[in-house]
Amino acid sequence: MNENILIAVAWPYANAEIHVGNLTGSHLPGDIAARYHRLKGNKVLMITGTDSHGTPVTMSADKLGKPVEEVYKSYHEGFIDLFKQIGISYDLYTTTHSENHFKVSQSIFLALQKNGFLFKKTEPQWFSPGLNRFLPDRYIEGTCYICGTEGARSDQCDACGNVLDPAKLVNPKSKVEDDTSSPELRDTEHFFIDLSKLEPDVIKYLKERADHMRDTVLGESLRKVEAEGLKPRAITRDLDWGIPVPVIDASWESKKLYVWFEAVIGYLSAPIEWSQVSGQKNAWHDWWTNPKAKQFHFIGKDNIFFHTSLWPAELMGVGSAFMEIFEPSSQPSPDGKEVKLTLPYDVPANQFMNLEGKKISGSRNWAVNGRDALTRYDPDALRYYLTVNMPEAKDSDWDWAEFVARNNNELVATWGNLANRVLAFCYKNWDGQVPNVDVNTLRDSDLSLLAVIVNGFNTVGAELEAVRLRSALSEAMKLATVVNQYLDSNAPWSAIKVDKDGASKTVYTALKAIDSLKVMFAPFLPFTCEKLHGFFNYESPLFGEQYTQTVKDSLGEHTVLRYKPIDGLQWKPSELQPGKKLNQPGPLFKKLEESVIEEERARLGQSNL
Ligand code: MF3
Ligand code: ZN
Repeated sequence: MNENILIAVAWPYANAEIHVGNLTGSHLPGDIAARYHRLKGNKVLMITGTDSHGTPVTMSADKLGKPVEEVYKSYHEGFIDLFKQIGISYDLYTTTHSENHFKVSQSIFLALQKNGFLFKKTEPQWFSPGLNRFLPDRYIEGTCYICGTEGARSDQCDACGNVLDPAKLVNPKSKVEDDTSSPELRDTEHFFIDLSKLEPDVIKYLKERADHMRDTVLGESLRKVEAEGLKPRAITRDLDWGIPVPVIDASWESKKLYVWFEAVIGYLSAPIEWSQVSGQKNAWHDWWTNPKAKQFHFIGKDNIFFHTSLWPAELMGVGSAFMEIFEPSSQPSPDGKEVKLTLPYDVPANQFMNLEGKKISGSRNWAVNGRDALTRYDPDALRYYLTVNMPEAKDSDWDWAEFVARNNNELVATWGNLANRVLAFCYKNWDGQVPNVDVNTLRDSDLSLLAVIVNGFNTVGAELEAVRLRSALSEAMKLATVVNQYLDSNAPWSAIKVDKDGASKTVYTALKAIDSLKVMFAPFLPFTCEKLHGFFNYESPLFGEQYTQTVKDSLGEHTVLRYKPIDGLQWKPSELQPGKKLNQPGPLFKKLEESVIEEERARLGQSNL
């Protein structure tokens, strides 16, 4: 049965280049899942976009001395370039700075207000007497009042992962350059979402998903909510840049929606924008008002609270009021029931990836940036290492020596050479065709190899289904090893001289196994599997194309990245026909020199990164 799958990836802030840690944390696992579900014939929508508001972005613009809009757009274009090059196949990659996102976010705000989950309150916030303005969120750093770590941001502590009450921060300092005044607390009025009222719903929601959520995610969510409870949170800020608060009152003009409150709403606004740009206005309902749709959120561990507590609370709080406010003309569902929004099914958050034993840091140039790495390495080589090293259960480490070793010993030696040597041998000795064997005469050893490979679709598939991507890839690699063993024992290279018929059977069987493995590897290694698919001379490709488009609206225009899907189920064993014409094969991967290790290590920490 086909399923509707929403692959929702954390929205990257427009304040730094995307590095390998970001890729392995969220974009790549999201892409692998999306590609797998597409091959299975499921109805997939993979979305996210640039998180263009909030203090991370305004502070980065301050530093560069450029307008925020220009800065967010330049990162946004760079992200799109990276995703295209490394094959992160978003159906829509957009931005939070769009008319549509503004409207959806404001509708959620109004629906929560209508249902009584918002209240206004005046509270002290940090203010700079020198600059005569408030300093929300990251404009203030100090010592975390929970774990005692210095350098905590006033809204969030990266060290202990807690969201913080700014006013409680110890030893607060302004992060604005040249601001020598000491921040002081001044009263300001804000809207709050009363999460305490929604706490029982959040607990119930998480308990219903306890059977399939990762333990690391449940620990951060359910156990924490049960132990500490949920408190009201301010959802507006004293800032110029962002989404206007939808109230008619001049005193709110200098305030905007809190970036986390609105960015998560992108999971709903992006599918709506995708429906608009693809000319099927109501298509988003397939993932959003169909209770059977499965939504997956690919995020890093620092984002867990916002995805397992704040976002489900927002969704449960709006109930059916969102549809009434956003689309007043919309009809209730045919059975007369209220149309409610679907809640996330799973949040397979990853831990962090370090680099050569140290925390990745863009500002200290201790990072491997995606676009930079792609100038020297092929996308699938990077994707392979980022998947075998994905921080699914605990933090992992990018190590250049290991990158070279795993590329050469696994990707090239086990899989790439297998595909290349069998195809090249066949192309040369069987006139560019699959050996024309009578499949009824295959030997037991041939049949048993093919049976093992067919079963791989279940074992690899089950791991992919459960978002255990490292294990899925290692299962597929084990099968490649089994095919190598089969070839070693049948040695068609020497058999061809004495028993061409036997050699034909071996080559046919190995090709069929490789053609199946191609599908199993495809979600992980889409570029080389597509190339291999071409060597097998199939008519339609495995995957669709990525392309960009410009969307115009009342805020101006923004570029979006899109994906053109291919119809049909491909997650199935090869049906390779004897005698099929092949295309000239070639190598899939490159062996890397050992010297790469020292060259790359020397780059780290340098100022020209
Ligand atoms: N911009 C945030 C970060 O980079 C993630 C936002 S996820 C969202 O950590 F859902 F809120 F958008
Ligand atoms: Zn802390």
